[in-house]
Amino acid sequence: MKKSMDLFRKKTFETAARGDMNRTLTLKDLIMLGIGAIIGTGIFVITGQATALYAGPALSLSFVVAAVVVILSGLCFAEFASRVPILGGPYAYLYVVFGEVVAWFAGWFLICEFMLAVSSVASGWSGYLQGFLSSIGIDLPTALTAGYNPEKGTYIDLIAAIVVVFVTFWVTQEAKKALRLNNAMVWVKFAIILLFILVGIFFVKPGNWQPFTPFGAKGIFDGAALVFFAFLGFDAVSMAAEEVKNPQRDVPRGIVGSIAIATILYIIVTLILSGIVPFEKLNVSDPVAFAMRYVGHNFLGSVISIGAILTLLTVTISMMYSLARLLYAISKDGLLPKFMQEIDPKHHTPKKATWVAGAFALFFAAAFPLNILAELTNIVALSYLALMALGVLKLRKMMGPPKKGEFKVPFVPVLPVLSVASCLFLITRLEAVTWLVFAITLLIGALIYFGYGYKNSVLHQK
Ligand code: ALA
Repeated sequence: MKKSMDLFRKKTFETAARGDMNRTLTLKDLIMLGIGAIIGTGIFVITGQATALYAGPALSLSFVVAAVVVILSGLCFAEFASRVPILGGPYAYLYVVFGEVVAWFAGWFLICEFMLAVSSVASGWSGYLQGFLSSIGIDLPTALTAGYNPEKGTYIDLIAAIVVVFVTFWVTQEAKKALRLNNAMVWVKFAIILLFILVGIFFVKPGNWQPFTPFGAKGIFDGAALVFFAFLGFDAVSMAAEEVKNPQRDVPRGIVGSIAIATILYIIVTLILSGIVPFEKLNVSDPVAFAMRYVGHNFLGSVISIGAILTLLTVTISMMYSLARLLYAISKDGLLPKFMQEIDPKHHTPKKATWVAGAFALFFAAAFPLNILAELTNIVALSYLALMALGVLKLRKMMGPPKKGEFKVPFVPVLPVLSVASCLFLITRLEAVTWLVFAITLLIGALIYFGYGYKNSVLHQK
């Protein structure tokens, strides 16, 4: 007799993978990790266009709106990380509470999120490098400066493409070294942001903040849906849960702490940026360095450019690293082809999974402009975050309220429901083309699952 399909088959807490890694990370390490993954293209690049075209000086309020949405999601994340001590992040959590098909889609959204984030940050990186090169008199042919946009005469973002190839190659060879570099770069990031704030504050002309909301409330919310991108990466903190000394206490604090630090820096930087430069002039791809050059500090502009060039590179590396591990983990469960779980004997890295990740990231980085890439990253991230919030409600049904010492989302079910609603709200503010590509993404996800994953799942074989 043919068995009926069981799309909601679950892993149990007992069968889900647990870590046996060394528990060495402290709260400080987690916050460094969080900041390392969070602060990047969002603040260094996207703020420019978002200020000029979406919200004006009120982009600082957009950051507040986006931060509220992220914090609601972060709380839901924190409860999972504290109560479900298994490897694999959201994909694994949802495998336990909702079963396979939901876990697959969450995993698929995460794959897309990381891949698109790699492409976006590479594209932002290209913006800074080009800004820097052109400040010393070197300009690329227009056709090679940005993603496909025949109206502007641009066809391919050559530098973004090269950087993806380089990062992919490096992550297959020297993953651990690359990650250590990431930690050092967090200090560079703090340093250039502080430099910008401490110098910039003296050039603020309050007149530039008038009008403060040139595009009204619509602009603030549309801006929030775009700059939501700047907060992505906070999930990296929960992915490290198995290496944390006191995960139940420190993972939630690490998540909320790194979001809080990023929010404060983002609001200050945006206010100073729009205080220095009239907002309509900020439609550039290296706004923070541009603002310094605008007030005649060319040298500081170059310092900031070089700092951003270094730190954005490490954001791409850490995203690519996580992406390859995610593909590896999902392939281990049988939902993606087996070759992705092969470990390279020499470097001990999932080399083939990394090359697959790199190939897709390369295509998107070369072909699409940054704002589309960022919106696409946001729509997939918002979708899985909404699933996570629903997951908390289910988790409470399965396991009851958290015990003493476990992190507890306050006001359940109100906050998780608000979290779902706020994610959906931001999704409604994104462009139609983003929705269209998202629909195609869903379709591809469904094809992979029903065409391959369902039959090859380890749970199916059992
Ligand atoms: N939040 C990360 C960035 O802004 C993805 O680059």
